[in-house]
Amino acid sequence: MTTTQQAYGEDNFGFSTEQVHAGEVVDAEFGARITPIYLTAGFLFDSFDHAEARFAGQDGGLVYTRYANPTHTAVEAKLTAMERGVDSLLVASGQAAITVALLGILRSGDHFLSTPSLYEGSKTLFRENFERLGIEVEFVDDPHDLSEWKRRVRPNTRAIYGETIPNPKNDLIDIDLIAGFAREEGLPFVIDSTASTPYLIRPIEHGANIVVHSASKFLSGHGASLAGVVVDGGNFDWARYPEKYPQFNTPIGRAGSPTLVQKFGRKAYLEYTRSVIAGRFGPVLSPINAFLLQQGLETLSLRVERHCRNALAVATWLEQQPEVLSVDYPGLASNPSHAIALKHYPRGTGSVFGFTLAGGKDAARTVIDAVELFSRMSHMGDVRSLILHPASTSHAHLTDDQRNALGIPQGLVRLSVGIEDDHDLLADLERAFAALRASQPVETVELAHV
Ligand SMILES: Cc1ncc(COP(=O)(O)O)c(C=O)c1O
Repeated sequence: MTTTQQAYGEDNFGFSTEQVHAGEVVDAEFGARITPIYLTAGFLFDSFDHAEARFAGQDGGLVYTRYANPTHTAVEAKLTAMERGVDSLLVASGQAAITVALLGILRSGDHFLSTPSLYEGSKTLFRENFERLGIEVEFVDDPHDLSEWKRRVRPNTRAIYGETIPNPKNDLIDIDLIAGFAREEGLPFVIDSTASTPYLIRPIEHGANIVVHSASKFLSGHGASLAGVVVDGGNFDWARYPEKYPQFNTPIGRAGSPTLVQKFGRKAYLEYTRSVIAGRFGPVLSPINAFLLQQGLETLSLRVERHCRNALAVATWLEQQPEVLSVDYPGLASNPSHAIALKHYPRGTGSVFGFTLAGGKDAARTVIDAVELFSRMSHMGDVRSLILHPASTSHAHLTDDQRNALGIPQGLVRLSVGIEDDHDLLADLERAFAALRASQPVETVELAHV
């Protein structure tokens, strides 16, 4: 903190001020204004005794970059402030963040409940990899039905999981509702806020306990590097449930030593996840990528504001095209999630969404092949606009029935709308739709609307 003694992360400043200044470290030797890239594996010990004290955690100093690094620490402090948490952990990717966040809570024999609409990579991680570790996931059918959530809680249920703005369907969950249920059941609520970012919503302020991000997306913003972050809200009472969460409530090391909760208080979860889970499984972020993330965070609000504005313009245009059956953007008044969008996302509902073409896969192929400005790419939250056909790529491993159940038919095209000028994006889509019209007999288009 250089410009003021007031704390960041406590509503003393606006969002854009915090995204620039929170966590920043001015180098004491040269006065470098930007937190440098500390590209070092380890940190020097002055003496034999100093090394011993470091390993015993007595002076709070650094040992090895797998546990902590000054570039990471600065970015983690920024993200902690931006999310209104108590501590954060940077890891190598969003997948790593989800994995370590849940492994910090769950062990073999545990069960957790999840909302049904999730990033497909998370679903396969839970269904296949977690299953092999003896951890069982169960997806609720209707995340708005509290009685279903309650009915599915088992004696070994240990966590609730969800996403703020699931893509490509953008079928929003009511975070207040699910957080209230999780609190009543004594279960931590872990939420992936990749598609929303703290600029659109701070889930901890709505009762979520742990926030994860693929920081590869909007947070970094420029599509150059991968990163992930786990933010601890410090608002779950681990000490109240010693049988459910023994890792926080048993002495660390020798009998008589304090428990993690006694030693680290509200930061016990993050400390465990950092040193015992991430520190040992080892998905370390390169300090170079931490630096790129730091640069991205400094402009987050400016970019996300433009992303949302462009996305609404594109969604509004798409909704008016006769070849389009539906547009899954909650910012549109016609969208089933619009009421939750108004409640949770007054600044906008992000820029990653799907729309469905009446002409199915062939129409999707024509549109995707005809665009020139949109990049045909997986990934999202990039300053560049991206386009993808989920049924033949991210969701290709599912059957048609499974895809249809998820609302991902062959005609669905996913966009990640970037920060370019909106008239250029619309011109690109107009060109693609002109190609579509040229490829289709007129009757097909008319029939689709009968
Ligand atoms: C919502 C969401 N969470 C997590 C991930 C995984 O992130 P990463 O690619 O950084 O591992 C993705 C990737 O697309 C995502 O969309």
